[in-house]
Amino acid sequence: MKKIAVLTTGGDAPGMNAAIRGVVRSAVYNKLEVIGVFRGWWGLINEELKPMDHRSVSGIISQGGTILKTSRCREFYTEEGQNRAYETIKKYGIDGLVVIGGNGSFTAAQKFTAIYKVPCIGIAASIDNDVNGISMTIGWDTAINTALNAIDNIRDTATSMERIYVIEVMGRECGSIALAVALAGGCEDVIIPERQYNWEDVCHSIVNGNIRGKISWIVVVAEGAGTAPEIAKKITDMTTLETRALVLGHIQRGGRPTAISRDIALNLGKMAVDLLIKGESNKAVGIQGNKAVAVDFETAIKKKETNVEEIYNLIKIMS
Ligand code: F6P
Repeated sequence: MKKIAVLTTGGDAPGMNAAIRGVVRSAVYNKLEVIGVFRGWWGLINEELKPMDHRSVSGIISQGGTILKTSRCREFYTEEGQNRAYETIKKYGIDGLVVIGGNGSFTAAQKFTAIYKVPCIGIAASIDNDVNGISMTIGWDTAINTALNAIDNIRDTATSMERIYVIEVMGRECGSIALAVALAGGCEDVIIPERQYNWEDVCHSIVNGNIRGKISWIVVVAEGAGTAPEIAKKITDMTTLETRALVLGHIQRGGRPTAISRDIALNLGKMAVDLLIKGESNKAVGIQGNKAVAVDFETAIKKKETNVEEIYNLIKIMS
């Protein structure tokens, strides 16, 4: 292994820059050449690459987003796109790839390496925290803190105006952001794709609480389980209580990465380079519990297995 390339793909996540720094600085430390690929797979197809050195990653550790830019590149899923990407890899003498992204990125990487046999290690970075076998992806901690700030602000007005708020958070098909912020925000309920809901029960508990004198609620909904406006309407129709809907949206993707997002990014960047040097491939690195682990792409791209009941029950007991 003499020369590696690093790219960021899919939705950006705060801490991706720290991961790029982790990869580049570890590669330089190990006397490897590093090439940065712009806009993810698109940059491999269209030959947008730039050599990186120790100083290329100075001052980026505190910045959200990604200095390498990112994209969702449909062309990479075609045979022609993959062939062109491989041609670039050969032309630049790239011996290994580090792919910073989420499970969509690892699915693409797995398909590509199965055909072209380019050694590849993924670094789990996505606000959605939906990589199987990994309990914390880079960016998730920052995103939940951003969402939590917004929820705390809403709580002030919800209490003062005696209203119900339905707040929609991101997460694609995963309820990880929703569960974390519902618990930390002291929210009354949370709707996630991993759990079936009985709307009669949800509304019944609101009406009963209202009879006992409860005046405001915050219900968090994960985007994969429905939209805030449709759930707010359902609650108003069934309870006759005033409800407001709020979609937090892309603010959850930006901002300065928290210390946790940065620290894990640096560790995982180093780990990815070490694994490539050892001759490993087809693995995603991430945090499981409090340890850095490497999970086969095949496992990482499966639907995430989590025990949502335990945390859901805690949210309900605390509400
Ligand atoms: O995967 C990250 C994510 O922010 C998801 O939570 C969300 O569903 C999606 O990306 C939004 O994608 P886009 O930025 O393309 O609108």
